[in-house]
Amino acid sequence: MAGACVPISQRLLLCAGFVRPGALVCDVGCDHGYLAIYLAMNGAKSVLAMDIAAAPLEKARANIARFGLSGGIGTRLADGLAGVRAEECDTVIIAGMGGDCIAGILARCPWAADGRHRFILQPQTSGNDLRRWLGQQSWTIEDEQLCEDAGRLYTALVAVPGGGRPLRPGEQFLSPALRASHSPLLGRYVERLRRAMEAAVEGLRRSTKPEDPLRLQYYQEALAEINNWKEWEQ
Ligand SMILES: C[S@@+](CC[C@H](N)C(=O)[O-])C[C@H]1O[C@@H](n2cnc3c(N)ncnc32)[C@H](O)[C@@H]1O
Repeated sequence: MAGACVPISQRLLLCAGFVRPGALVCDVGCDHGYLAIYLAMNGAKSVLAMDIAAAPLEKARANIARFGLSGGIGTRLADGLAGVRAEECDTVIIAGMGGDCIAGILARCPWAADGRHRFILQPQTSGNDLRRWLGQQSWTIEDEQLCEDAGRLYTALVAVPGGGRPLRPGEQFLSPALRASHSPLLGRYVERLRRAMEAAVEGLRRSTKPEDPLRLQYYQEALAEINNWKEWEQ
């Protein structure tokens, strides 16, 4: 199977595109392991595939063996980055999880902010929560790009600790890096984002939960900012 084509999605290819040649990669939440396999076959110096659950990790190990890479990719059962030493990687990928879950994994890692690692993050939901957390911790979003995968649009970003600032509400949904990306998908992405945010505003207006007026204000501010940005218009 070595040399065969790895069945990897456009979304994971987007993440892989951020990895530098010769990187020491740690893939947190590897599930099937295809990203780890792809990276081991495409220029990473070392790859560690990790998952919190035994069943996906077994699946990853079986796939890694099918591709003849059992000697080349380490696997580990762990919650987030627990059990990984700082010197074992220089690039961390966390893809396909909620933004709040990704932020939690970063917050619990004692070496995440040591300045010696790049983080490739692909929030499946709640990307605004992740970007807010990154800004609050003064992390910088160096790059953020879009891809289309099976009709859905996804973003993935590269973040490093330091040099950042708290992001305004609109920037938490649409980072300055994504706005500067010149992606041909940006206009469609912003349209979908606006519709989702308008629906959220409508729902929050009708809500009687005590915490929702603050959330309503947050969404309204974010939407007003985004409506003022025009980069993606021709
Ligand atoms: C939806 S899958 C995404 C798999 C792959 N990263 C992708 O993007 O296609 C999420 C995976 O993350 C794992 N996971 C969830 N929380 C985790 C955590 N705290 N630490 C490590 N793995 C976790 C799950 O067991 C699951 O295999």
